[in-house]
Amino acid sequence: MRRALAWVDGNVVDAAAARVSVLDRGFTLADGCFETMRLYAGLPYALDRHLARLATSARLLDIPLDRAPARPAAVVRALAEAWGPEEDGMLRVTLTRGVAGGVAGPRAEAAAPTLVATVIPVPYPARFYEEGLRAVLLDRPRRAPPEVLDPRAKTLAYLPHVLARREAERRGADEALLLSTDGRLAEATTANVFLVKNGALATPDLATGILDGLTRADVLRLARAEGLAVEERAIDPREAAAADEILLTASVGEVLPVTRRIADLYRLHVKQSLSQGARGVWETIN
Ligand SMILES: Cc1ncc(COP(=O)(O)O)c(C=O)c1O
Repeated sequence: MRRALAWVDGNVVDAAAARVSVLDRGFTLADGCFETMRLYAGLPYALDRHLARLATSARLLDIPLDRAPARPAAVVRALAEAWGPEEDGMLRVTLTRGVAGGVAGPRAEAAAPTLVATVIPVPYPARFYEEGLRAVLLDRPRRAPPEVLDPRAKTLAYLPHVLARREAERRGADEALLLSTDGRLAEATTANVFLVKNGALATPDLATGILDGLTRADVLRLARAEGLAVEERAIDPREAAAADEILLTASVGEVLPVTRRIADLYRLHVKQSLSQGARGVWETIN
């Protein structure tokens, strides 16, 4: 298995040797945001949308991205090129408010943001795609409700998701389905969720307070273009138990476990969108 790489302080290094400060607010307070994208043969899919969502997260958290030590696009490129085309990878960019004590105050205001990135082999086992993964519906809400934390920000605050995933695993499952605070089906711990019933797709609407997943948006578009019935709406969790099938979507995991039709559609779409190769990807990003 390939060794993980990291971009830190302008250099690509072995991830095991990369360091950030123990005083970094990402570490002490989860005061930051991130993006994870998939590298296909060395090229990031949907880089422009990932960068746009990172910028949105930074704006919503009031982290001055323009004071980060480098441009995220340049960091992604340096790391993707160092990783190379032999194996797909999971590339993560993490942005924090930087090194400063105190919950808020002038020191936090003055801090320069920390920007680091890592790339590791895709962590999803083949079994997920061949057999589908086992998901359990947990009677607990996803992370903070929208009134507490705007779900458009992909923040570092994943502890509720970590605990939910642990609980799912203790119960012999691979993934947990979480509820919104008002008891609607929301999303999985690191993926959006779709239900399939009688050939029609349904997914929680954004008003449920979920992450506006990029793969979710692609699947909605592809399914509609294929003439499939698709609904975005509030979903009662009991519908999950009654569904013919449940699909999870995420940039790195793609579509799992799946009607092969949707999974194949997504794969084909990604392939076409990267078909112009490196020039097509890097030249669209300024
Ligand atoms: C909570 C949550 N929902 C949904 C997703 C899927 O989002 P995307 O398709 O943009 O990767 C993720 C991905 O990390 C996630 O963490």
